[in-house]
Amino acid sequence: MKMRCCFFLICMLSGLFMQAQPVPLKWEQVAPGVWKTTVGQPDKVDLLSTAGGSPRKEALQKLGELSFPLPQADCNAEIREGKVYLRFPLQEQEQLFGLGLQFKTVNRRGQILNLHMDHYEGRDDGRSHAPVPFYISSSGYGVLINSARYITVYAGTAVRVNSQHPPKAYDRNTDPDWSAQPYSDAVEMLVPTTGTEIYVFAGKNPMEVVQRYNLFNGGGVLPPKWGLGFTHRMPTLSTADQVKAEAGAFSQHGFPLDFIGLEPGWQTKAYPCTFEWDKNRFPDPAGFVKEMQAKGIRLNLWLNPYLSPASSLYNEVKPLSGSHTVWNGLVPDLTLSSAQQVYKNLFKKQHIDIGVSGYKIDEVDGVDSWLWPDVATFPSGTTAEQMRQVYGVMMQRITTEWFKEKGVRTYGLVRASNAGASSFPYVIYNDYYNHRDFITAMCNSSFIGVLWTPEVRASKTAEEWLRRMQSACFSPMAMLNAWADGTKPWSFPEVEKQVKDVALLRMQLFPYLYTVFSQYYLEGKPPVRAMNLVEGFSYQHQSQKTTLDGTENPYQMALREDVKDQFMLGDDLLVAPMFTGQTSRKVILPQGKWYDFYTGEYVGNGNIIVATPGLDKIPLYVKDGGIIPMIPPVLHTPAPGEQLPLEIRHYGEAESTSLLYDDDGQSYDYQHGKYMQYRLSAKMDKQGKWQGQTVVENKQGLKVAYKNIQWRFMLPH
Ligand code: GAL
Repeated sequence: MKMRCCFFLICMLSGLFMQAQPVPLKWEQVAPGVWKTTVGQPDKVDLLSTAGGSPRKEALQKLGELSFPLPQADCNAEIREGKVYLRFPLQEQEQLFGLGLQFKTVNRRGQILNLHMDHYEGRDDGRSHAPVPFYISSSGYGVLINSARYITVYAGTAVRVNSQHPPKAYDRNTDPDWSAQPYSDAVEMLVPTTGTEIYVFAGKNPMEVVQRYNLFNGGGVLPPKWGLGFTHRMPTLSTADQVKAEAGAFSQHGFPLDFIGLEPGWQTKAYPCTFEWDKNRFPDPAGFVKEMQAKGIRLNLWLNPYLSPASSLYNEVKPLSGSHTVWNGLVPDLTLSSAQQVYKNLFKKQHIDIGVSGYKIDEVDGVDSWLWPDVATFPSGTTAEQMRQVYGVMMQRITTEWFKEKGVRTYGLVRASNAGASSFPYVIYNDYYNHRDFITAMCNSSFIGVLWTPEVRASKTAEEWLRRMQSACFSPMAMLNAWADGTKPWSFPEVEKQVKDVALLRMQLFPYLYTVFSQYYLEGKPPVRAMNLVEGFSYQHQSQKTTLDGTENPYQMALREDVKDQFMLGDDLLVAPMFTGQTSRKVILPQGKWYDFYTGEYVGNGNIIVATPGLDKIPLYVKDGGIIPMIPPVLHTPAPGEQLPLEIRHYGEAESTSLLYDDDGQSYDYQHGKYMQYRLSAKMDKQGKWQGQTVVENKQGLKVAYKNIQWRFMLPH
């Protein structure tokens, strides 16, 4: 008996001991350059299965095979007290990016984040509209934790006693190199659940890692053509007549407009919502939607998913809802197909079938004191924490499917997203309103498969108004959100012309923009790109030491300098927004020659230049050999079958070839290969004269979109 007890005790102790040992992970290749492993017992609800994307196999194949990008023996997991502890190695020079839609910084190395769905409130601490647990290393790999939990990430902050590559110990008393944050050789993560899947993505460079990530999740979204025009959101209690009048004013001012957003007041009740038209403000919704469409303007409806007690669906939805309300509204458990179906029936009938083109899905992110608490329960058994992490993704998925069933693309807004959502036609926005931070968010969106818009709402001065508008016109959604202030693009008459010019420039760039988005779908390359994703961008982060001081900085911290106020739009265009008060700004050019977009002048090569564009312009640069196809300054994006003249601009001295994408602009046929590409080639002939060639490839029975094609060589002087 004694012996048996001892035996059990030894077994138990060794079991405990074994469990506490970090186990090297076993990786299974799931696509070229993509590997997966499973630790412990994963939850039923996770991020990727909620998003439900299927890998774009052919495109992944095209990117090719690579070997596992990390030393496998150094990738470890432990399960302790029912939680997963992970450790991945880091080299000294590596920089880390990703880990959610943060607004202040780009480089994550040295940060501690608790990835938690929330409205961003001014701190890069992990609480964000897209707390995506995916990091990308400058060394060419990415790690995704496929868990819908609040994951804590120590992104190169902690130093273990038995570290293989310990930092040097300095003496703070005498050594100026002493740092409060010594070098750490690992990313460590705590996933507060019994198990998780982990994915590793390889790449020859960080861009390829992001491409594999996006392609693995189904490829990036290709919006309908109208989605890339200008959009305006109405004051919340607007009536149908006021909306029509506003559209009329846009056309009188010669201002582009493709879709209008209706804010909460289109419904009988909002916060919580009924999703039913208010017949006082909109007596004939179907007729109204049709009339607007005939003017070339689509409609987008604001909602949050919480159901009003005044809704006719209330009793049906109640048993399918969580234990807690949001603003007294039911929170339907959308992991249940029955709950999805009830919403679908109503949304289809009330909105989609009468021609509404999309939604703005609000308030699915936070704030803690508004949303359901973490103690809430849901009938499916999904925990409140998981529900919080995935609610926005579920809403994106189901609404996208409803439009897809109808055969039409949608493009809308959402305030919460997460991993696996690259293919969803939604752009993130929020109530935070810092212009500079909005641009940093655009940079960060490019690492994690989401889109972000620096929407314009109101401004204190005409200068601020113009600078914000200029940025919005170079973003995934060019939007004026006048829900609270009733602003119009011409609200500051002193800059009306400049605002109009930049909005029309966006329209002119439509062929380029649409092609850039097609790359998101076809190759996984995000449309807006942080500079750290650009080949040849060799800017070295300089650590600035700050001085010791008894009040502000008792520990002398090294400050990282991030490149977060400029970005690439597609392969060829570098955008460097100006902010209020600036008359000049620094622009860091990647290696290779660069030219001014407006004049074609040579500006530099791999160096830092100073831009002084005046108030009228946003600084834009084109790389050597860049080809920018443009249409005339139209008020609506091209309608199906419409043919427009095309000017193809070539910049610089390099001969080059690029592809110009087109399709029907509204259906999903492109996903079955029904799209065409123009091969655009610029070459210098024997006489030293530039020649441009345009060849249509794979016409696929589609009507060509462009006529009177003219090349314009923007020759440097
Ligand atoms: C906010 C949203 C705003 C606006 C407003 C309407 O939550 O961020 O853009 O839609 O609700 O009440």
